[in-house]
Amino acid sequence: MKLAVLVSGGGTNLQAIIDSIESGTITNAEIAVVISDKPDAFALERAQKADIKTVAVERKACASKEEFEAKINAALEAEGCELVVLAGFMRILSADFVNKWQHKIINIHPALLPSFPGLQGQKQAVDYGVKFSGCTVHFVDAGTDSGPIILQKVVPVMDDDTEDTLADRILVQEHIAMPEALKLWAEGKLTIEGRKVKVKA
Ligand code: GRF
Repeated sequence: MKLAVLVSGGGTNLQAIIDSIESGTITNAEIAVVISDKPDAFALERAQKADIKTVAVERKACASKEEFEAKINAALEAEGCELVVLAGFMRILSADFVNKWQHKIINIHPALLPSFPGLQGQKQAVDYGVKFSGCTVHFVDAGTDSGPIILQKVVPVMDDDTEDTLADRILVQEHIAMPEALKLWAEGKLTIEGRKVKVKA
């Protein structure tokens, strides 16, 4: 199964996926291409070190969001990708793009959705005073962090947590959650029934 991973930053989630494939934890899946909206994203260096094709599509080099997404779509189709993985990708994809790739885009969000969608999920959790937070891997729909949930990992929120200390604790779980979800997908164990994702035993 051919994956594309979309990144914008450091790429620690990408690295977790690379490592899970290289170690054989995830079988019958390969990363065909890593695409970033940031040409200088360290995630691209991680991909290059792993001999994975990289493509940078700069938004400001495109006349419109449609052109930007058309370039991303072309890169995905050129490699025959079957699943698009958003791993620290910081752009909102249009409803048209999401509909074209319906049920073929997976995202990881650093909070227990539906709590704290959007930016700075970790900060929202600390500011709200919740006792638990975590991360969510979900299929992307046309909303913001609102698609069917594949799996979640929970972490405690300590009284003296800052946004950064909580983010670090959640990130450890992200690196477990994303490979776990991709393994289930690659093994054909995920089915979507309305809002629900059922995992075959
Ligand atoms: C992670 O917290 C992820 O949940 C969020 O972006 C952060 C950095 O991800 N979407 P990465 O290290 O670039 O994979």
